[in-house]
Amino acid sequence: MTQSPDIDATRQWLKALSSRRQQLQEPLAPVVEGRLRRIVGMMIEVEGITAAMGSRCAIETGDGGWLETEVVGFHGDRLQLMATGEMVGIKPNARVVPVASDPSVPVGDGLLGRVIDASSRPLDGLGPLQTHARRPLLAHPLNPLQRQPIREPLDVGIRSLNGLLCVGRGQRIGLFAGSGVGKSVLLGMMTKHTEAEIVVVALIGERGREVKEFVDHILGPDGMARAVVVATPADHSPLMRLRAAWVATAIAEHFRDEGRQVLLLMDSLTRFAQAQREISLAVGEPPATKGYPPTVFARLPALVERAGNGPAGGGSITAFYTVLAEGDDQQDPIVDSARAILDGHIVLSRHLAEAGHFPAIDIEQSVSRAMNDIISKPYRLAVRQFRQLWALYQQNKDLIAIGAYQRGADPRVDEAIRLQPLMTAYLQQDVDEGVTVDEAQQGLSQLLSLTSQPT
Ligand SMILES: Nc1ncnc2c1ncn2[C@@H]1O[C@H](COP(=O)(O)OP(=O)(O)OP(=O)(O)O)[C@@H](O)[C@H]1O
Ligand SMILES: [Mg+2]
Repeated sequence: MTQSPDIDATRQWLKALSSRRQQLQEPLAPVVEGRLRRIVGMMIEVEGITAAMGSRCAIETGDGGWLETEVVGFHGDRLQLMATGEMVGIKPNARVVPVASDPSVPVGDGLLGRVIDASSRPLDGLGPLQTHARRPLLAHPLNPLQRQPIREPLDVGIRSLNGLLCVGRGQRIGLFAGSGVGKSVLLGMMTKHTEAEIVVVALIGERGREVKEFVDHILGPDGMARAVVVATPADHSPLMRLRAAWVATAIAEHFRDEGRQVLLLMDSLTRFAQAQREISLAVGEPPATKGYPPTVFARLPALVERAGNGPAGGGSITAFYTVLAEGDDQQDPIVDSARAILDGHIVLSRHLAEAGHFPAIDIEQSVSRAMNDIISKPYRLAVRQFRQLWALYQQNKDLIAIGAYQRGADPRVDEAIRLQPLMTAYLQQDVDEGVTVDEAQQGLSQLLSLTSQPT
């Protein structure tokens, strides 16, 4: 019996159907891509794709390469991106594709002695980083009720800070100063002489030349041995300058969670705020306070709150943030905001620096809010006595200089004049010299034992 032609046709049809079904089971990956529609200043608008805030996209450049960008906002159906590097080679209608990115940071002892950029790429030419763990770039600060209070002193190696301001483990301090008055040198001295086991230094928005100068000359091999430097010079994109602060903080958190005492030095908080301002203004956020949009003032505490003590028995992050402040300028909103969110401030004076008095710490204007919890009552009284004598001399300095002050007129002023050379010597310190907390406290007690009058 021969088969009817209908059955053959049905068989062929079934075969075709099954091959089609197979194709359907292995669908081709969909191509997701958008198009570049507009660029205004640093802000790039893209249509046709969606991606989460903070995620990465790549834009095809004319030469076949790709420009890395980050999603910083959206407007209707359009994504707003900002380039992480130089915006060169991109053309109208260029292809834009989302990129899988991992917002985490390599961490571990392999970072010690290394200089990296905000993308955790080595800048020091010492080969790849030997790290095996990663940590989220952005994390929530610890629950404030679970943190250990600030009770232990941290030796920062500087006599006037150890003796008169008494920095506590887990304290966050602002270093307020104008340009060129010795911030970098002071941070370098702390890195070399502190008792902290790990020092994480973030150089944000410095001149490129200064990064090398800081690493080679100010820190040197001794300072680098237990330090990690995260550097983004001023010519890097604001995204990278912002990121450097988060990267350094995440690295410090890693070491703290291992139970170590960490010193985090950030130079500068002002440049971090300025980077956030550039980004916020570019995506159209209106400026509120002296040209700074509100996001800036939300970011500052979000950054600073991640430093501090860990839970009981754990490590600590003691942090110094430099803040650019010229003279008596109290109007700068970053200065104001930093003063409010930090646990103390150290003011460097241009006047002292010009007179060759280094470190140029203006002891009258500097305050540590944690000091009373760290030192004993008798020592607190000694600090107060030093401050009073120093202030007394400063108040009468002009009269003394022109010879208008008559010795004997006020015994307390006489005392201040007598001790002034010793007090000045106490406040000054050579770059290569480290002074421990014990030495600083003994030095102060010895100096005050020379007083004859209770002040
Ligand atoms: N402890 C010190 N002993 C002697 N000289 C010092 C000391 N600290 C700072 N200086 C002098 O002050 C100069 C400026 O110091 P430094 O670079 O630390 O300032 P800065 O505040 O970091 O400046 P910038 O705002 O430009 O970053 C140094 O080149 C040095 O000559
Ligand atoms: Mg500097």
